[in-house]
Amino acid sequence: MGGKKVNKFFATTPIYYVNDVPHIGHTYTTVAGDVITRFYKQKGFDARLLTGTDEHGAKIAEAAKKHNKEPKEYADQISEEFKKAWKSLNINYARFIRTTDEDHIKVAQDFLQKLYDKRAIDEKPRLYKGLYCVGHEQFMSPEELVNGLCPDHQTKPIEHSEENYYFRLNEYRDKITDLISSDQIKVEPKTRKNEILGKLKDGLEDISISRANLEWGIPLPFDPSHTSYVWIEALINYYTYGLQEDIWPADLHLVGKDILWFHSVIWPAMLLAINEELPKEIFAHGFFTINGQKMSKTLGNVIKPEELIQKYGVDGTRYVLLSAFPFGEDGDFSWDNLDKTYNADLANGLGNLVARVAKLCEKNGIEGNPGAQVFCADLEEAVSEYRLNEALAVIWDLIAEADKKINETKPWELSTDQAKPVLEDLVHRIQAIAFNLKPFLPETAEKILKQFSGEIKSAPSLFPRL
Ligand code: MSP
Repeated sequence: MGGKKVNKFFATTPIYYVNDVPHIGHTYTTVAGDVITRFYKQKGFDARLLTGTDEHGAKIAEAAKKHNKEPKEYADQISEEFKKAWKSLNINYARFIRTTDEDHIKVAQDFLQKLYDKRAIDEKPRLYKGLYCVGHEQFMSPEELVNGLCPDHQTKPIEHSEENYYFRLNEYRDKITDLISSDQIKVEPKTRKNEILGKLKDGLEDISISRANLEWGIPLPFDPSHTSYVWIEALINYYTYGLQEDIWPADLHLVGKDILWFHSVIWPAMLLAINEELPKEIFAHGFFTINGQKMSKTLGNVIKPEELIQKYGVDGTRYVLLSAFPFGEDGDFSWDNLDKTYNADLANGLGNLVARVAKLCEKNGIEGNPGAQVFCADLEEAVSEYRLNEALAVIWDLIAEADKKINETKPWELSTDQAKPVLEDLVHRIQAIAFNLKPFLPETAEKILKQFSGEIKSAPSLFPRL
């Protein structure tokens, strides 16, 4: 299977844990995934974005219990919140997958059975001991702890000791090292790729992939007294959709850097073990702080998508997030900086240009036309390398050039005959800007294109100043 549709682009976001509602971290990745997928669609690809929620495991079981709910009931509720958030942000996903979906459970079980049949999973469980951080849903080494606590969650890991099934991860070490070094699995950015290769050099341990005492999970088909380790079945979500739509392998897994190891080492090893095709690229974006501080409930600085939308609108939110810093690097968000960016680039920049030109066209009776339909080469190159903030900068250079043109030619001082060619040139420029903007600010781009496609009338401002 796979590889039949040449002109396809299959991108994924991580599936988000339903222990808590969506925040700016989830929003950032999902918006980026949407922009990249829309870009490929606009280029004529069969482009799909897969997103969804990760609903099994101890972390979700605990969160549900805290809220006096059954895990499934709790997952239904939070999963809905994610769907709502993505709808309001105009995320054009192909499927919102939930790990409690029937088809996913079936595909995950088939996958696990194949791993077992191929002897990639040990025949019998054996004792697995380790320090487990429920917040991470991951074992931690003693060196990673600070004063015995997980530094990210400030909690004491659980001393896990039980009979578990093992996945023979170490058997795939050489092969994976080779695939990553040769970019057959492209791990980006390069610094992250080197980190992964360094870690691979240090050696690999086989991993526990089952739980003997956790009910909230997918039962192992070959031993239903165990459930699957949540990460193992969660990774399979990509394959569930890939199989369903016959578009496996994934072209791009977008992830945060904290979960790159799972995606670039464990996931390819699982696929190698069942002789499946491997994802083409895994891109890890950075981690961000809010006003220089780690985002945390305790500090009360968690930014939610609805707060952003309320202030900047849908497209404003998409813009301020992606323009803030290079995709792939760590960064900092603060309301102050977001406000400044919004006012400078959207209210004064794009919004003002469109309003000025529309007004002048209206005054001089200039009619629009369907306009340009090509991406500019620099933008195309930047998006295909996921340099999203640079792609936006390319557009904002075009905006600055158009502004300069108006200020130099001063069409308001010209007669209608003299103003006509100047304004027609400006209309063309704006149409090119809008076309290039479409993947990033879909609604705004459509509004602009519509406004300049026939009789041009000045319209209410696109981005009111804050
Ligand atoms: N459920 C797993 C993913 C399974 S994928 C098969 C998971 N979920 S998560 O909800 O905790 O996190 C999802 C993503 O959000 C991660 O890629 C993570 O990097 C991102 N972020 C969460 N907080 C973040 C920041 N403060 N900054 C940047 N990204 C952040 O992990």
